[in-house]
Amino acid sequence: MRVISVVNYKGGVGKTTLTANIGAQIAAWGKRVLLIDLDPQASLTFSFLRPERWRAELAEQRTIKQWFEAWRMDSTVPPLAPVLTSPSVVNDRIADGGGRLDLAASHLSLGDVEMNLAARLGGAEVHRSTRHYFDVYLRLNAALATLPAPAYDLVLMDCPPNFGVITRAAVAASDQLLIPARPDELSTLGIEHLQSRLRRYIWEFNRIVDLQSDLHPTVRKLEPVILGVVFTMVQYYGGQPIAALRPYIAQTRQLGLPVFEAMVRESNSHFAGAARAQIPVILSEQTPHALGWELHRLVEEFLKRVRTAAS
Ligand SMILES: Nc1ncnc2c1ncn2[C@@H]1O[C@H](COP(=O)(O)OP(=O)(O)O)[C@@H](O)[C@H]1O
Ligand SMILES: [Mg+2]
Repeated sequence: MRVISVVNYKGGVGKTTLTANIGAQIAAWGKRVLLIDLDPQASLTFSFLRPERWRAELAEQRTIKQWFEAWRMDSTVPPLAPVLTSPSVVNDRIADGGGRLDLAASHLSLGDVEMNLAARLGGAEVHRSTRHYFDVYLRLNAALATLPAPAYDLVLMDCPPNFGVITRAAVAASDQLLIPARPDELSTLGIEHLQSRLRRYIWEFNRIVDLQSDLHPTVRKLEPVILGVVFTMVQYYGGQPIAALRPYIAQTRQLGLPVFEAMVRESNSHFAGAARAQIPVILSEQTPHALGWELHRLVEEFLKRVRTAAS
């Protein structure tokens, strides 16, 4: 089971769209895929489920929020399986390939969970006690460990647009990270900032692993691999990103981060309708050939990078 988080502390850069499209295509190719929506905005959830259905069937008891709330210190980890759901529209579409797409839905008040976890860590960064450090940051690892084997081939976690406790817990549970970005000035600065926050967090986590090796001998150090930056919402002219965008793409390469060859073009009309259809653009019959081809290439490159990083 490979676990990958989709991270960028900026919103509106295509995290959720990429998570939905990559996950759905890999499931359509016959794999068992689990998507975990960790953003209180719940856009990933509503990409596959109608809000009425979410409210009627999931909101009260079967979202990732209730899983977090069921967690108790010094007690067995609550199983994740009861909060998972199989969205029917997309699963009907992919059934022929033998794969499956499951979802851990989010909740609009997942922000409360974030605040409680932050409080448990003890607030202000410098003086923070490290007593509950692993309880908090390894919670999603623990959740995934409850899945009965053989569980999933791939788990994709769609992170909220910040580098808070839940995003960090997702990073701690991940083998690899995917960073969507838009080729513009703010996004490029954002990637640099994200890279330094990630480095610092991983350093801090691993230092505490060393310091608490007596107390927590089984906790392993983090070494998530950055699969790469994927540029989304790219404006094209004559089959190429428009000239104004190219400096930002070049700058990102200079940060030393891998950058995907494949990019996703800006196409408001197609992406805007996807949630209503509950089928990601990549699987939609309405998607024009050029866009569909581009998204396929992206998923193929994604799988290639996943395999290379793992070997
Ligand atoms: N390639 C694209 N072209 C046009 N609109 C897009 C594209 N990708 C995503 N969008 C739209 O942009 C908005 C933000 O994307 P989203 O994936 O939700 O970003 P994030 O999860 O990073 O906040 C959504 O309304 C989505 O439908
Ligand atoms: Mg999102």
